[in-house]
Amino acid sequence: MNRGIRRVKYPTENKELIYWVNEIEKWCEPESVYWCDGSSEEYDRLAQLLVENGTFKKLSDAKRPNSYWAHSDPADVARVEDRTFICSASERDAGPTNNWRDPVEMRDVLNGLFKGSMKGRTMYVVPFSMGPLGSPFSQIGVEITDSGYVAVNMRIMAKMGQAVLDQLGRDGDFVHCLHSVGAPLAPGQRDVPWPCDAENKYIVHFPETREIWSYGSGYGGNALLGKKCLALRIASVMARDDGWLAEHMLIMKLTDPTGSVRYISGAFPSACGKTNLAMLLPSLPGWKVETIGDDICWLRFGPDGRLYGVNPEAGFFGVAPGTSNKTNQNAMRTISGDTIFTNTALTPDGDIWWEGIDGEVPPNLTDWRGNPWVPGSGTPAAHPNARFTVAADRAPYIAPEWQDPNGVPISAILFGGRRASLIPLVTEAKSWEHGVFLGSVIASETTAAAEGKVGNLRRDPFAMLPFCGYNMADYFAHWLSMGSRSDASQLPRIYLVNWFRKDENGKFLWPGYGENSRVLAWIVARLEGRVGAQETALGFTPIPEDLDTTGMSVAPQVLETLFSVDSTKLIDEAEDIARHYQQFGEDLPKELSDQLEELRRSAAI
Ligand code: OXD
Ligand code: MN
Repeated sequence: MNRGIRRVKYPTENKELIYWVNEIEKWCEPESVYWCDGSSEEYDRLAQLLVENGTFKKLSDAKRPNSYWAHSDPADVARVEDRTFICSASERDAGPTNNWRDPVEMRDVLNGLFKGSMKGRTMYVVPFSMGPLGSPFSQIGVEITDSGYVAVNMRIMAKMGQAVLDQLGRDGDFVHCLHSVGAPLAPGQRDVPWPCDAENKYIVHFPETREIWSYGSGYGGNALLGKKCLALRIASVMARDDGWLAEHMLIMKLTDPTGSVRYISGAFPSACGKTNLAMLLPSLPGWKVETIGDDICWLRFGPDGRLYGVNPEAGFFGVAPGTSNKTNQNAMRTISGDTIFTNTALTPDGDIWWEGIDGEVPPNLTDWRGNPWVPGSGTPAAHPNARFTVAADRAPYIAPEWQDPNGVPISAILFGGRRASLIPLVTEAKSWEHGVFLGSVIASETTAAAEGKVGNLRRDPFAMLPFCGYNMADYFAHWLSMGSRSDASQLPRIYLVNWFRKDENGKFLWPGYGENSRVLAWIVARLEGRVGAQETALGFTPIPEDLDTTGMSVAPQVLETLFSVDSTKLIDEAEDIARHYQQFGEDLPKELSDQLEELRRSAAI
């Protein structure tokens, strides 16, 4: 058909967008094209279509109003890091921690895969804004997808629809995000509940042209392209170029008993409790935590030289198993309705269930594969990476300023991971540079958020290993340079935290959850210069008496252990860090090799 004479009414005048949508339509050959307006009526309609197709099951309105359950293809359950590619022009720019492919060759592969890939399906055009509409922090993207499941999830996770097109205007720029589940339908072919091309996934980023192409998967970060692909991988490149930071961090508002407010951000590897911490119910009387974000934080300097953080997302895509009224009552209240559940188990009366949720195990569960679950069968009823998708403003303690277009001033940055030994409950970095060193060596036992073996220790610098869109050595250098752009007194202080230390019998030494407020209170006391600290080879740890333990029973020797650094183990740690650093070769900033030398020296004392 001659595009020049076709008269179609578009909901935008943005020429580049209209041109691109037409090109993709010609190439991918969908049955129809649908532009999302982002309305709640549209959400309900698309959800109903997903029910009719078998992708969604509507949960009982009496139990969980306006909520749905989906279960995925068993071969499409998590982010696929080995199928995630950074296609920068030069291989060096992707660095040793990313999968690099030549962009020209990759475009050939993708063009072949996407040709006709949407046959028999609707092609949804999903305009979205990461960050409050019109904020100087925000980035607009448009995701073209042949998945209705993706379209409805995107409406929860981002500002989505007509308002975004209006903001984009005639000439506005946007990140091109193309997604196909890779399952074209022949005429008359019946669809499956979770279409995908499980053996052939490609999650591809072109950093120079700010494009994302994702093929074959419908799950989470592989398919909801505003999240990990745009707000972290592509945004990290934008941030490097424009002098800001795009980070895998929660943001919380912490109010002390006098009413004084601090904002704290924190980077933790996937499934290490960021959502729990962002929604913490403090056990310390008089303290309050309100949520700004649970996964991503964009940081820019304000005119006063402080770093301001914005949560670019509009929803939570949280790990369900382990979530309960004990571990995260706020999350449980947030997901009491208006939620999409993926890969949880299902109860016979139309509610969801997972390992670790409150109460008895209900009889006759359907497992995440859609089969009757046999208790004691050795397989979990919910997939360990089962998720809930829910709007952030459903959270009972969402901070009123969570969408402040200028962001909130960050006083402290936490880095953490799951470490059974060595790493103290909390350690204050000696300086920005030392804090960057601590961030660059974060290690954690692996979890189910990504495919692969659970429980191995892996170094996950800044919790960004799977999400940094360029050479990680340059990313370290960028962090170091951010520290020299402002007065040291204006920069957030950096803390290493570890809620997961165990004793020699494998028992957790610290109860975690609400009790972590005691650590936050110590951090605030440090920021205000009210308490001293003990100097260790890793940084400053609390003097045990300074940790407020009123109302909890913790043996003094346990606190001693929690704040101590075992120098024999530290020598091994330093060697392991040296091995981790080797991959960066000459590109590793000298400041970091100096920090490692300093650690080795103090470990040897
Ligand atoms: C996430 C992740 O989904 O980090 O947030 O895997
Ligand atoms: Mn995450």
